[in-house]
Amino acid sequence: MNHQEKIKQAKIFSIVNQKGGVGKTTTAINIATAMAAIGKKILLIDLDPQGNASTGLGIDNEDRHNTIYEVIIGQIKPQEAILKTKIPNLKIITSTVDLSASEVELVNVENREFLLKNSLKEILAEFEVIIIDCPPSLGLLTLNALCASDSILIPMQCEFFSLEGLSHLLNTVGLIKDNLNQNLAISGIILTMHDKRNKLTEQVEEDVRNFLGDKVYESHIPRNVRLSEAPSYGLPGVIYDSKCTGSVAYLKLAKEIIKKEQL
Ligand SMILES: Nc1ncnc2c1ncn2[C@@H]1O[C@H](COP(=O)(O)OP(=O)(O)OP(=O)(O)O)[C@@H](O)[C@H]1O
Ligand SMILES: [Mg+2]
Repeated sequence: MNHQEKIKQAKIFSIVNQKGGVGKTTTAINIATAMAAIGKKILLIDLDPQGNASTGLGIDNEDRHNTIYEVIIGQIKPQEAILKTKIPNLKIITSTVDLSASEVELVNVENREFLLKNSLKEILAEFEVIIIDCPPSLGLLTLNALCASDSILIPMQCEFFSLEGLSHLLNTVGLIKDNLNQNLAISGIILTMHDKRNKLTEQVEEDVRNFLGDKVYESHIPRNVRLSEAPSYGLPGVIYDSKCTGSVAYLKLAKEIIKKEQL
């Protein structure tokens, strides 16, 4: 084994679901913060042109000069785009709406699916975990995230059409595994915005657990207004109100992920 191989490298997780508004960004911010709070060195990459993860961690638009867009197009090194957050051990590479142009601009670039993977190589030794918050589509940005990742986390709302969306996503992941990233694993499904008073929620949860067994994380995240208020203060829910039911659930989920993934 040479010296290079001995250096521990970050494990990369993508938070994906092509459906919008299912809790990807809320999950990314809160598990990243929970892991940072127990001393893990974490990098959160905002790969969504909406920039919600950047805003939710309190980074104003005017402070986002070097973003993931410039990294992906090769204009800057990833080190130049890393910003500190208010949370110790948690750093971020932000995004702005400029990133949406990349879907079109990169269409004819060689190895366009691997731009993110290749650009992150230089910083893998600096972090223990890298979490990528994906946009709500299965376009080129998400494809780049899936090619760069070791594993994926799938937040899912317990609604009628969720299962259809999930099987489409799992098919896509299968195709990527066969063709572009053999090592890609599915860490698990995370049930979000769970409403225990709703009968349909219970039914969908039962179906998902029967269908996917231990691929579904035990902790589910309840619908909780404190979690939705937190981003407007530029704070993760788990910091804004660490005792609310949503935060308690995210802290439990983070522990479950750390154990399952041996982080
Ligand atoms: N557990 C929860 N309880 C209440 N509100 C929540 C919860 N999780 C997320 N939300 C709110 O729901 C909305 C969508 O959540 P979020 O932005 O995390 O989803 P997303 O999947 O990242 O969306 P997009 O697909 O647009 O990126 C946000 O307003 C968020 O604050
Ligand atoms: Mg989002």
